[in-house]
Formats: sequence, C-alpha cells, structure tokens
Amino acid sequence: MEKFKFLLLLWMFCLTSCNNGNNEYVSEKLIPELSYMNTSVDPCENFYQYTCGNFKNVHPLPEDQYNWDHFTILQDEIHQLAADILKSVRKDTDPLALQKAKAAYTACLNVNYADKLKLPEENFMLEHGIWPVISLEDTDIEVSWNLVGDFVAEYGVPLFFNFQILSNYWDPTDNFIYLYRDAISNPSTIYGKLEEDLDDFLGTAGGRVSRSTDDGSKSEPIPFESFLRTVAFYLRDVVGTWKDDEKIIEDVAEIISFMRVLQPGGPGGFVEDTAEILPLDNLITVGELQEWTDSQFGEDYPINWVDYFNHLFKASGVAITEDVKFYHDGARLLYGVLNLFQKAEPRLLKNFIMARLFTYTGC
Ligand SMILES: *[C@@H]1O[C@H](CO)[C@@H](O)[C@H](O)[C@H]1NC(C)=O
Repeated sequence: MEKFKFLLLLWMFCLTSCNNGNNEYVSEKLIPELSYMNTSVDPCENFYQYTCGNFKNVHPLPEDQYNWDHFTILQDEIHQLAADILKSVRKDTDPLALQKAKAAYTACLNVNYADKLKLPEENFMLEHGIWPVISLEDTDIEVSWNLVGDFVAEYGVPLFFNFQILSNYWDPTDNFIYLYRDAISNPSTIYGKLEEDLDDFLGTAGGRVSRSTDDGSKSEPIPFESFLRTVAFYLRDVVGTWKDDEKIIEDVAEIISFMRVLQPGGPGGFVEDTAEILPLDNLITVGELQEWTDSQFGEDYPINWVDYFNHLFKASGVAITEDVKFYHDGARLLYGVLNLFQKAEPRLLKNFIMARLFTYTGC
C-alpha cells in the first residue's frame, strides 16, 4: 500500500511539473535552434545540413548584411531593445542613471544641437595653439619637457616615454619611477622596418622625409596615415587655414617617420653610430639621473628631471624630489629619446604630440 501511494504521488508530480504534452521534452518556441534543423537529412551524411540546414529559410540573409547568424540576430534584438528603452518617455520614477542615459541619447539624436558643438580637437587648439600640420605659419613653436609632462598628466596618454610606479617586493613602502619605451600606444600598422627609417631620419637630420619608392613614384599610405590625413583635412576645413593638401600629406608622412624612430626606444632609436653613451646603473635616484644627463648632453640640455616629473605627476599630488628612486631599461633608451627630442624641430614634436592626443583621446 505504501508503495502504491508513492507511485501515485510520483505520477501526480509529473503531471503537474512535466506538462510538455505531446511527449516532447521542450517546445520549439523555447529553443529556436530546433527550427534550424533539417531532420530529413541523415546526420551521418551531412551533419551541418542536419543541424543548421533550415537556418537560411527561417532567417534569410538581409540585403545589407554579409554575415547573419544567431549572434548577429541576438545583437540586433538587444540594440533594438536598448533603443526602445532609451527612446521611451522620461519618467520621474526612472532610476537616475536611466534618466541621464535617456537625456544623452536624445541629445545625440538632435543633429542641430550636435552641429553647434565645437570639435574636441578645436577646443584643444584654442587652448594649446593650432596643429602645425594645418597651419600656414611655422614660427613661435616651443615644446619643452615640462609641457610634455603637462599633456601626459592632463590626457593620460604616454608621450616619448611610458612610465609606471613600481614597488619593492620586499618593502612596499619603497617605490620607484620606471621609465620605458613609448611603444604600446602606436598603432601597430605603423611599425616599419627600423633600420631603413632610421637612415631616412638621420639622413635629413630631423627634417622632412618624403615617402617615395625607389623608382620615385609615391607609395600607398598606410591605414594610420590615411586616418591622420583625414583628420587633418577635416580640421583644416573647419578652422579654414587653406593649407595645401600636398603640404598636409608631407607633414603627416613626417609624423609617421618620427613615430617609427621613437617606437623602438633606445636600441634602433635615435642613437648615432658614433654616440658614446655614458654608463648608468638601472636603479638610481632622480638626482643621479640629472647628473648623468648633464654629463652626457651638457648642462644646457633642456630637461630638469625633478621639474619634469612634478609636471608628469601633478594630478597625483605627489611631490618628486632628487631623492626619489628611478629605474630604467638602459642608458641607450634614455639617450635615444632625449637625443631625438633635441634634434627634431619643435614643429615636428608638436605635430607628433597633437597627432597622438587626437588619436587616443577625445581631447
Ligand atoms: C532538407 O534537406 C533535403 C535534402 O537535402 C532538401 O531536399 C530540402 O530542401 C531541405 N529542406 C529545407 C527546408 O531546407
């Protein structure tokens, strides 16, 4: 009797909870993938046709797409859902974040409003001067290491060096500044053949480099170059400087050559064959770094490392003194970058800095 009761309970349980009907475990509505199958195909013959053969009938490829699968469909649905939510009337009962998102979305769709806004690059130029690439005047450009530090502090984009704060594994209160090559942020498409570009650069002593092939014909611009040209043409038209396309193209090529020299840092960077680089321990103080720089380049070299680091770290509120510890990857890197900075024309330095900032920030 007990056994019979148990079976009865089990049967009732199944009746209430497993009510799929028709002997199916699940309905096609719950698993749309089931409708993509073509069960008239033998899975041992063609497994793909068996599992997905009917997909193209259920979801024909839309005319404006070249790829259509379950993920793109899902993505489309999510975008549509998000747009519907953002377009719906703003209510006081909406969470504050949603109210803000709805306001931002409406503002984006308001073309008249968007057209009235200044480009971030334009605002940057109002504050820091025009991008020499689009300017007709080349005079009065000054670029100091302290200014470089200010830009890095303000925009968080590395320039000439990359830096990090490392701490001593055995004593976490013991920190040092680590400088290394400024490579991560250059688009990889500009990574060129180092030796050739170094020759180009040295051959013109920091001046203009024309990008042409051996037979004298112009070579195709790399994608990053096309990008910079487009930005420059656009900004030229907005600002209205009437600079020639040809001159802009030349300047952009020069920026790319410069980045190719800067990218590898020390080895392969701007180090002449005849350079005699004074030895320097890897872990020193900022004061010792200054002594090395003074002996290497003479006291006139325009960098005061304490000042530069204080500009670089000004947003952090940390004061850098001569006693702060400093770590680097080798005197060759420091020499190469400091030398490059000194030999290049200020307008080229500024062109590079602004190209970098326009690429990596909304300014
Ligand atoms: C299913 O496969 C068969 C055999 O290849 C084919 O004739 C039929 O058109 C397919 N059905 C669909 C809906 O694609």
